Amino acid sequence: MSTQLFSPYTIKNITIKNRIVMSPMCMYSSHNEDGHVQNWHFTHYVSRAVGQVGMIMLEATAVHPQGRISSRDLGIWDDRHIEGLQALVSQIKEHGATTAIQLAHAGRKATVDGEIFAPSAIAFDENMKRPKEMSIDEIKETIVAFKEGASRAKKAGFDIIELHGAHGYLINEFLSPVSNKRTDEYGGSAENRYRFLHEIITEVKQVWDGPLLVRVSASDYLPEGLDVEDHVTFARWMKQDGVDLIDVSSGAVAPAKIPVYPGYQVKFAETIKQQADIATGAVGLITSGLQAEEILRNERADLIFIGRELLRDPYWARAAAKDLRTDIQAPVQYERGW
Ligand code: FNR
Repeated sequence: MSTQLFSPYTIKNITIKNRIVMSPMCMYSSHNEDGHVQNWHFTHYVSRAVGQVGMIMLEATAVHPQGRISSRDLGIWDDRHIEGLQALVSQIKEHGATTAIQLAHAGRKATVDGEIFAPSAIAFDENMKRPKEMSIDEIKETIVAFKEGASRAKKAGFDIIELHGAHGYLINEFLSPVSNKRTDEYGGSAENRYRFLHEIITEVKQVWDGPLLVRVSASDYLPEGLDVEDHVTFARWMKQDGVDLIDVSSGAVAPAKIPVYPGYQVKFAETIKQQADIATGAVGLITSGLQAEEILRNERADLIFIGRELLRDPYWARAAAKDLRTDIQAPVQYERGW
């Protein structure tokens, strides 16, 4: 059967060989708080490339040391990070996968020593540190940190950049009125809450002309929080700003109950795709080829991000192909036994 899941997909100048994306997943495997790539990262990412995933997206990679979720996060805040990332990119590409990196700043969810930063001085919960409300200078410096991160990602050879605007990290904290109580031009109205992301996109595009993705949390699951309709508006603005695809996740800006079931976030990807007329990625408890194919065929999303299922099975693409009764090319070395 000819499938959508195994059909190529082009974003701007980059063609991905199929629609399967390895969802960004923190490995907390850098040593000595230095943010460098380690052997683990090669084994982990390259095996999924051998497993015929179309696009490998590296985990949340910190643009600033104070923006790390943990002290063992991967980093891209220093030119010295480029070499390891470049070696990793080149090994992933050897196996025919497209390479992407998720640029991140953890904001009030950072768990590093020293001061942490957020739009407003409100802790995520009683167990987390109280962040400092960012000054305008600190906001501008952070925007530059994203730009410099993008410039290093380009030097390392990545095909695609994603900005982490989801899960209650810094960009998400600016977007949501739950975490953003500012009274200056970065808070208040939707336009103002979007300004930080708008300026990051604009600055990143000064140094990056490849595909640009943004991951969002399309619902805060809180009555006073954002829902998908707010994100349709943001997605329209992102499209105008030159973002190519929205990777649609949800939740985690503040503690809330999230109803979880197979494909629980797909409806958000579909709404944003249809109403903002922009390509989307679907993620969240998508575990079978048939489920992925349904989403693509019914035009609910353009790419399928797979997280935990790819941790369990680096050869998930092969299993999905079997599920869809189609053949996919094996790595030449495996052709006799694929
Ligand atoms: C994640 N997730 C995640 N998301 C993200 O945007 N950046 C990240 O660095 C991480 N890190 C991370 C680590 C681990 C170990 C897991 C399991 C998850 C979320 C992930 O990308 C995905 O959105 C969710 O796991 C839901 O998809 P699955 O796992 O149901 O396919």
